[in-house]
Formats: sequence, structure tokens, C-alpha cells
Amino acid sequence: MTDLGFIHRFIPATQPGLPPLLLLHGTGGDENDLLPLGEQLSPGAALLSPRGKVLENGMPRFFRRLAEGVFDLADLKARTLELADFIAAARTAYALAKPVAVGFSNGANIAASLLLTRPELLAGAVLLRAMLPFEPQAPPDLAGKPVLLLSGSNDQMIPAASSERLIEVLQAAGADLVYKALPTGHNLTQNDLIIAAHWLKEFGLENL
Ligand code: MLT
Repeated sequence: MTDLGFIHRFIPATQPGLPPLLLLHGTGGDENDLLPLGEQLSPGAALLSPRGKVLENGMPRFFRRLAEGVFDLADLKARTLELADFIAAARTAYALAKPVAVGFSNGANIAASLLLTRPELLAGAVLLRAMLPFEPQAPPDLAGKPVLLLSGSNDQMIPAASSERLIEVLQAAGADLVYKALPTGHNLTQNDLIIAAHWLKEFGLENL
């Protein structure tokens, strides 16, 4: 589907009462990549999966970077707002409740950027291998916003200092943060799936 401003896939819910998942892929992924993950994490939930519009050597991303871990902040801001518009349009088009963002790597970074910029659009977020995408000018208000952050303690792509700074910013903003550093690298493991699925289940129960 190319409407609503982003090429995307939408899979309607088959179970009532589960929050929709907004799936945000990593660099080089696309709108198909995380659908199996979404199905595993929350069986029967609606899945909304856009493709990032920036191309880096042919690889889709959600915003430009100047080098690994060095972001084009003007582009990041514009792309975050563009994605925010897509979420609002998709909620209307598909009659969706507020989604929980589930982002991996570059997708986790734009999910964090959405949380810091337009927190009212998300019911919560699962950030898999995220860093602080930008230093907020004013402290955001994330009071009670459920966020799960899973890092890899041997991740070569995400500097530990930057995910630690993300934790500080989320905690200072009042987010209801669950953080775990898993004994792994950048790639996702079975542990990520188990922890994220459990977190989403609790999330669903608390928000029924
Ligand atoms: C980013 O650019 O968002 C991070 O470096 C993660 C990635 O490589 O996608």
C-alpha cells in the first residue's frame, strides 16, 4: 500500500482488545520485515508497518545519518513529524486505537524520536537496540508512558553511553521504563522475543 504518505503493510486485528503494533524496521529492512516479529509478539493484534523513506546506498531507513551513529538532526526532525502524520492518518483510515511502537535499531531510534516529540501518538514503545536520537531542548512529558528498552551488552553499533543517556532522558520524563541489557550484540535473540511478548501481554492486561 502506498497511500497515507508511506509505503506500508497493514494487517487487521483478529483478536479484540490488543493494542495495534506500529512496526519500525532497521536499516535495509522494509515494511515486510517485522511482520513475523509482530505476529509472534502479540498474536492477533493489528500490525501497521511503514517503510522508511530515506535510502542509504539503496537501503531504506527512517532518517538520514551522516555517519554511523551521527544523525542529520534536521532530517530526523522532519521525518519524525512525517511519520507522526502517517500514524494519525492510518489511525483514521483503519479505525485503530493508539499503537504501541515496536522498533529495531534505526526503527527503535525513530520510535524514541517520536516518543520525545509526539508522545501523545503512542500508547507505549518497545525499543530494541535504541540510542538517544537527539538531545531534547525541553524535557518531554512521558508521565506513566510504558516503554520497554532492550539493549545488547556487546552491541557494536549502539554506543553504551548513548543508550544510557536515553534511559536517563526517559526516566527524567517520567516514563514507566523497563530496561534490560541482554548478553548479546546488535541482532535480536529469542530472549528479546520472550521479554517483549511478556511485556506486551502485561501491557494489554493493564490497558483493557
Ligand atoms: C541508526 O542509524 O539509527 C543506528 O546507527 C542504527 C542503525 O544502524 O540503523
